[in-house]
Amino acid sequence: MAPRKLAAGNWKMNGDLASLSEIDQLCKAHPDPGCDMLICPPALLIHPMAASAQAHALTVGGQDCHAKESGAHTGDISAVQLRDAGAEYVILGHSERRADHGETNADVAAKAAAAHQAGLIAIICVGETEAQRDAGETLSVIGEQIAGSLPERSDSANTVIAYEPVWAIGTGRTPTNEQIAEVHGFIRGQLDGRTGDAVNLRLLYGGSVKPANAAEIFAIPNVDGALVGGASLKAADFGGIVAAL
Ligand code: G3H
Repeated sequence: MAPRKLAAGNWKMNGDLASLSEIDQLCKAHPDPGCDMLICPPALLIHPMAASAQAHALTVGGQDCHAKESGAHTGDISAVQLRDAGAEYVILGHSERRADHGETNADVAAKAAAAHQAGLIAIICVGETEAQRDAGETLSVIGEQIAGSLPERSDSANTVIAYEPVWAIGTGRTPTNEQIAEVHGFIRGQLDGRTGDAVNLRLLYGGSVKPANAAEIFAIPNVDGALVGGASLKAADFGGIVAAL
C-alpha cells in the first residue's frame, strides 16, 4: 500500500506564542486532511503547539536534537525531551544546520539513532548546493548523504527523507519536474536492499513549495509529500499545500 503522504512545515526560527493562532486556523480549516499534517516550530513552541493540536489532525515536531539522551550539553535538547514536550517527529541534517553548525553525515546518523530510540520519526534532509549541481555532482553528493546519514534499522515507520536542493530553499526557484523525479528515483534506488522496509519510506521534496506549485510537484513519481519553509507560516498558504496532497 502506498504510504500516507506528509505535508511538513518547518517554521525555522520564526513565530511566537501569538503565531499559535495560525495553528488554530489550520486545524479548523482541515479537520480531516487527506495526508499527515505536521508543523515543526522553534523548540519553545513545541509544547503549547502540541497542546493546541491534541484534539486535531496535526502533529508537531522539533527541528534538531542532540545525539545523547541527557548530560552536560548547554543549550541542546535531547530527543527524549522533544518527545516529552509532545513532538512526534524531528527534522535532522537540514542544510542550514549542516552549514551553520558544521553537522556531518555521521552527526546526523547519531542524532537519528537517538530520535528512533526516543520513539520519534526522523526527517533526514539531503540536497546539493548549486555549485555541486553545476559540477554534475548532485547524485554522488546525495548518495553519500543517504549512505552516511541514515542509521541502521531505518525503516518506513521511523524515517522520512527530505530532498531539498540548497539553491531552491527560500529562493522561489525550483528544479524541473524531471530533476526532482531523477533525484527521488535515485534515492529510492539507494534505499533498496537496506534492512527492513526502508525502500518504502516517504520521500519529501522541499524548496520553494507553495500552493501554486504543490499539485504539480506532488504528481511527480516518488514524491510522497513536502517539507515547507516560508509557506508553512500562514495557515492559508500551508492549507493550500495540504489540500493539494
Ligand atoms: O525546511 C524547509 C525548507 O528549507 C524549504 O524552505 O519552503 O522556504 O524554500 P522554503
